[in-house]
Amino acid sequence: MDETSRLNPGIPRPPAHAKYDFATGKPRPRKGNCIKCFCIAFVVALLLALGINAIVLLMAFKKAEAPEFHIKTVKVSKFSTISPLNNDRVVLSTDVTFDVECNNKNPIVGVDLGDMEMQATWGEMDAHLGESRVEDFAQKAKGKKEIKVSAKNEVEISKKDVKPEDMKLDLTLFGEIKYFAGPFKTKKYPFMVSCSGVSPTSVNVGCNTKLYASGEAPSKSKQKPTPSPSPPQSGPSGESPTTSPSLESFPPVKLTVQDKYVILDNGLLAVTIAKPAGFVTGIKYNGIDNILDTVNPEDDRGYWDVVWALPGTKGTKGTFVRIIGKDFRVITDKEDRIELSFKFGGYDPSKATKKDVPLEIDQRYIMRRGESGVYSYGIFERKNWAPFGMPNARLAFKLQRQQFKYLVIADNRQREMPVPEDRLKPRGQELEYPEAVLLVDPMDPQFKGEVDDKYQYSMESQDIRVHGFICKDPPTGFWQITPSYEFRSGGPNKQFLTSHVGPSVLAMFVSAHYSGEELVPKFEEGEPWSHVYGPIFMYMNNVSKGEDFKLLWDDAKKKMEAEVKSWPYDFVASEAFPKANERVNVSGRFFVHDKLVENEKAPAKGAYIGLGPPGEAGSWQRDCKTYQFWTRTDEEGYFNITHVRVGNYNLFGWVRGYIGDYKYDKPINITVGENIDLGELVFEPPRDGPTVWEIGVPDRLAREFFIPDPNPKYINKLYVNHPDKFRQYGLWERYTELYPDEDLVYTVNSSDYKKDWFFAQVTRKIGARYNGTTWQVKFNLDNVEQNGNYKLRIAIASATNSDLEVRFNEPKPAPALFTSGRIGNDNSIARHGIHGLYWLYNIDVKGNLLQKGNNTLFLTQTKGVSPFQGIMYDYIRLEGPQKSN
Ligand SMILES: *[C@@H]1O[C@H](CO)[C@@H](O)[C@H](O)[C@H]1NC(C)=O
Ligand SMILES: *[C@@H]1O[C@H](CO)[C@@H](O)[C@H](O)[C@H]1NC(C)=O
Ligand SMILES: *[C@@H]1O[C@H](CO)[C@@H](O)[C@H](O)[C@H]1NC(C)=O
Ligand SMILES: *[C@@H]1O[C@H](CO)[C@@H](O)[C@H](O)[C@H]1NC(C)=O
Ligand SMILES: *[C@@H]1O[C@H](CO)[C@@H](O)[C@H](O)[C@H]1NC(C)=O
Ligand SMILES: *[C@@H]1O[C@H](CO)[C@@H](O)[C@H](O)[C@H]1NC(C)=O
Ligand SMILES: *[C@@H]1O[C@H](CO)[C@@H](O)[C@H](O)[C@H]1NC(C)=O
Repeated sequence: MDETSRLNPGIPRPPAHAKYDFATGKPRPRKGNCIKCFCIAFVVALLLALGINAIVLLMAFKKAEAPEFHIKTVKVSKFSTISPLNNDRVVLSTDVTFDVECNNKNPIVGVDLGDMEMQATWGEMDAHLGESRVEDFAQKAKGKKEIKVSAKNEVEISKKDVKPEDMKLDLTLFGEIKYFAGPFKTKKYPFMVSCSGVSPTSVNVGCNTKLYASGEAPSKSKQKPTPSPSPPQSGPSGESPTTSPSLESFPPVKLTVQDKYVILDNGLLAVTIAKPAGFVTGIKYNGIDNILDTVNPEDDRGYWDVVWALPGTKGTKGTFVRIIGKDFRVITDKEDRIELSFKFGGYDPSKATKKDVPLEIDQRYIMRRGESGVYSYGIFERKNWAPFGMPNARLAFKLQRQQFKYLVIADNRQREMPVPEDRLKPRGQELEYPEAVLLVDPMDPQFKGEVDDKYQYSMESQDIRVHGFICKDPPTGFWQITPSYEFRSGGPNKQFLTSHVGPSVLAMFVSAHYSGEELVPKFEEGEPWSHVYGPIFMYMNNVSKGEDFKLLWDDAKKKMEAEVKSWPYDFVASEAFPKANERVNVSGRFFVHDKLVENEKAPAKGAYIGLGPPGEAGSWQRDCKTYQFWTRTDEEGYFNITHVRVGNYNLFGWVRGYIGDYKYDKPINITVGENIDLGELVFEPPRDGPTVWEIGVPDRLAREFFIPDPNPKYINKLYVNHPDKFRQYGLWERYTELYPDEDLVYTVNSSDYKKDWFFAQVTRKIGARYNGTTWQVKFNLDNVEQNGNYKLRIAIASATNSDLEVRFNEPKPAPALFTSGRIGNDNSIARHGIHGLYWLYNIDVKGNLLQKGNNTLFLTQTKGVSPFQGIMYDYIRLEGPQKSN
């Protein structure tokens, strides 16, 4: 066992056949007179032996398991600057060593880690610190072996003083694993190990090891290493995963079809689904018999549902329907993945009654080998059938209520949660908005006196990527990962529910929350439609007892990033879900030019830009039947909208800091095979004259305005000292307390909108009734162009059953200069959103309505029925007449 001595670079590999000799152990034929006989017998025996041997080896190759391959330590033994020869240049000297351990688990098949190559980059400066090559490492026998790979380098840098906290390297080790036995060799499996942020002081860094399928090479340019203490990632996706050694170390996915259930099992978890209904009745994972709530009946644990509405239904009402599949089918049954279908449908227009939903829903579940979770998507389809509306569509999971108590939806939005029993009388007391409950006698006294309300955990679509619950014993996470929101209604800023007391983990696809009826998809008589919601991933993870349970969230975020990278998934069977090669990218550079105010166009930074169904500028907000593809521009205004489905679109955008909506003037028709570069696009936001005064920041939110402290009786502790103070319950009630006698008056130049502009123009409570309110903006004009055309811009971040009237200088009952008419049903005040739908009003103001000296703008919200009614302003601006006029 002196093999370690051969591990040093440069020493040739031992003869591979030393132990595996072909022609041994075969009985020699007895000596006889017949030489010819002997010769023939010998040749036959030899061929036989060779044949048997070859078969044995081939079998061994086939069964060969991937070696356990990992980094024991990574050491940066040198990281220093040396001998500055002149004042500008400094030489940085580094010495890095990887300690690699390889555990070959195969008896006959050897492994060879040939030609390893190391790259080291110094992140901040992107200084490439050189490479090191290690050749030939062969390991015939079963067992563990170690190898050191080191690299010393010197490189000139321009930075003079390198601080200790800067001494962090990103390291990548590339190589390939070859299997061999005798003279036979099989394919090469490339691998890549990446470690980020390795410093001279780091002891045990997390490195991410990735094995690739034969023939697939990791890209060596600009690898961004991600730290990850997790086991080998699921290898390459696609048609090749069965050939990947990393996958082979996991058992194949197994399907058991019983009379009333089917079970998917990949050795990591087992998922039981009712057949043919498609409810997930059980998930066994990490020693927990069922992750799903066994207090609930079987159809109330993991299920697709919709709310559907007969034509003519007002508002967002409808009938809740759990989707009960009628037809079960195995779509794919391979070792690396199984896909199942539970189809709801059978709508027959000739026999249908009003009670039949004119829609088919194919509920799909996919389990993949080596993936700790289950995927689901729904194919919704209707032909030229009866009309209907669908206010809500989602996939819901309800977890064991006594175990999954720690909710996480964001780094700064996570907490221990009460149990559903706490919300019921007499433990809970329903508040003014019925979804909000005051916990008067919760099972766990720590929650006593807090408010629980699912809407406090809402998020914008663009941010809903991973959320879920943690069980602390045994430490287990259940997460919903949504790699793309292309299929959700309403675009990037539409808000949806996430996870909440239940413990419920929702994947919302369609909802009217924070928007109202305008986002209820409605289908006309004979209107065909099809849409794929998902796939999304229900991911489960664990840490050992005693480890920090918050590591589960860190890992879930990493997993989410990996899922985002592999979007659009290539393992989805349905052709209704186009793969990457059936989609295209649209890129360009986005500028904004507020003409009359800014001399020249400037790159729009962090702007929203996306493709939605053809329509007016801003119409994407109200689209709920098609796909939308959005991204944000970078610092220079560049954007890439990736993986757009074939179809006809308009390109839309909006930019924080500017009012209005951008629309590219030409339609964008996507066909396969051609990426589109739109070049430079310039958004000229609405502007007719210089700013006389403005209130707020045009960002489609009311969060910059005054948000009061909540009533101490109605606290959610999560949002105390939190940037999202607006998520507290009951803030609308504070208006009448703050302005008991007179409505809000704001004086331009002396008031501060952060303190003096209440975040919502809510109603005033008078006894048991509510009245609309009139706010005043006082401003002084040194001179007025009586014949000039002034412009008032009112951008609204949310409106609920409101009617806005605008007057200058003469209050009601003088006739209003502008009336919005009844607008909005987004209910964002009650649901603690800081915005709903966006509205922009551009109001012409003749100079003769204004006067030299003091002026008053009256903003009257006339309607008064409920405490949740009102307007959230985004931004208000008065523009003077154009100078050239
Ligand atoms: C716990 O997670 C690890 C990966 O971190 C996985 O290998 C293991 O199978 C999981 N344990 C159980 C019991 O599922
Ligand atoms: C679109 O961009 C993504 C991400 O850069 C890339 O992976 C993909 O190949 C591109 N698609 C096409 C059709 O070029
Ligand atoms: C867009 O894609 C190009 C080419 O892949 C890349 O160089 C650029 O950084 C990307 N820009 C953004 C904003 O993602
Ligand atoms: C895009 O498609 C629409 C609808 O089919 C069509 O009217 C329009 O002419 C097409 N435009 C281009 C540029 O192909
Ligand atoms: C409330 O509204 C009603 C009806 O518009 C009106 O008659 C009444 O004077 C208002 N009350 C107050 C205190 O403004
Ligand atoms: C606000 O103050 C500025 C600078 O003092 C002044 O020029 C402007 O006229 C004032 N505007 C109003 C509306 O009072
Ligand atoms: C104009 O408004 C200012 C500030 O509100 C006030 O101090 C001043 O008295 C007013 N002037 C007149 C003539 O009303």
